[in-house]
Amino acid sequence: MTKRSLAKAAIWASVAALALGAAAMADDDKKKSVNEQYLEDLRQGKVHIEGDHAAVTELILNRNIPIPYSYIAQLMASPNAFGDGPACIVCHSSADPTVSYRGLDLSTCDGIKAGSTETPARAIFIAGEDPKREILGRRMRNNRMPLGVGFNVDHGTDAIKAVEAWITAGAANDDNFRNNILPLFNTENVFGEDTPACAECHMSNEEPPSFHELDMTSYEGIMLGADSVAKGVDHATKVIIPGHPELSGVFQHLTEDRMPPGIDPSEDRDHPNTQILFAWVKQGAQCR
Ligand code: HEC
Ligand code: HEC
Repeated sequence: MTKRSLAKAAIWASVAALALGAAAMADDDKKKSVNEQYLEDLRQGKVHIEGDHAAVTELILNRNIPIPYSYIAQLMASPNAFGDGPACIVCHSSADPTVSYRGLDLSTCDGIKAGSTETPARAIFIAGEDPKREILGRRMRNNRMPLGVGFNVDHGTDAIKAVEAWITAGAANDDNFRNNILPLFNTENVFGEDTPACAECHMSNEEPPSFHELDMTSYEGIMLGADSVAKGVDHATKVIIPGHPELSGVFQHLTEDRMPPGIDPSEDRDHPNTQILFAWVKQGAQCR
């Protein structure tokens, strides 16, 4: 194409776009197409193209485009879909716990929605709700602590059991806590060979240097929780729920391996495909 015909084409394109806009405005009852809405937002400077994942954020997530189950099926069956590692369905392929970890069948839509069939049998998310803090969200986003600990480290060591029992008993600031629990968080190699102490990375309410503004050096710090500066003291993320280890971030982070097992902790926790999977759940986990 010559320069002139290019310019002409551009003019025609903008005339066509204007006509589309006018047609859309003339008919208030008619719902705008996603493309019309997108072009309008683009013209009005409402589209924020920031970062590597802008296409996913701006074109899919922010516009609540329905995610088809066929895409989810493909994610579950693809290696490296959420960062380096084998496909989910290699290890979670059936509801039979003798051949599939946790009896979790990620190879069918009904299986994903049913969750784990082995005791404790449980769903891994609530359809229609944000799965970030549910089992699925935690397994996709949370690295097991101390950061870098392998999936091959036992989930039921004496140290982990002691933390669990302390939370179950009410997480009091008592002699047991001071003598037996607090030192676990402040000593290296307690929760795995060659692992740093929790307090090496979580030592104050300031980030940096303390990850998530989590202070594990004192009772007050641990009970205050994470992100107390960023979110405000009243909205800090509690990491200990007295009486409930299964709901406590500290216990969850000690026992839950990020999926797929062996994934490098530096892999993006908000991988575009993780966000698309979460969007599908939020949209109701439709099997169409
Ligand atoms: C190499 C095998 C393997 C692969 C691949 C794998 N998992 Fe797992 N998964 C496991 C094992 C083993 C467990 C149970 C042990 C544990 O808790 O860490 C588990 C546990 C889980 C749980 C916890 C279920 C519950 O009831 O608590 C979820 C959710 C999960 N996996 C999802 C996934 C997803 C999603 C993928 C793909 C990104 C995936 N897994 C890939 C082996 C695997
Ligand atoms: C080498 C640094 C490092 C060490 C050591 C470490 N963490 Fe973390 N921790 C992190 C990072 C980074 C995150 C951010 C989330 C992630 O990667 O999953 C985090 C997040 C957390 C969170 C989630 C906070 C929130 O916002 O909900 C908890 C709880 C936690 N760590 C507990 C522990 C415990 C308990 C230990 C010791 C067993 C420990 N950490 C050791 C780096 C570390």
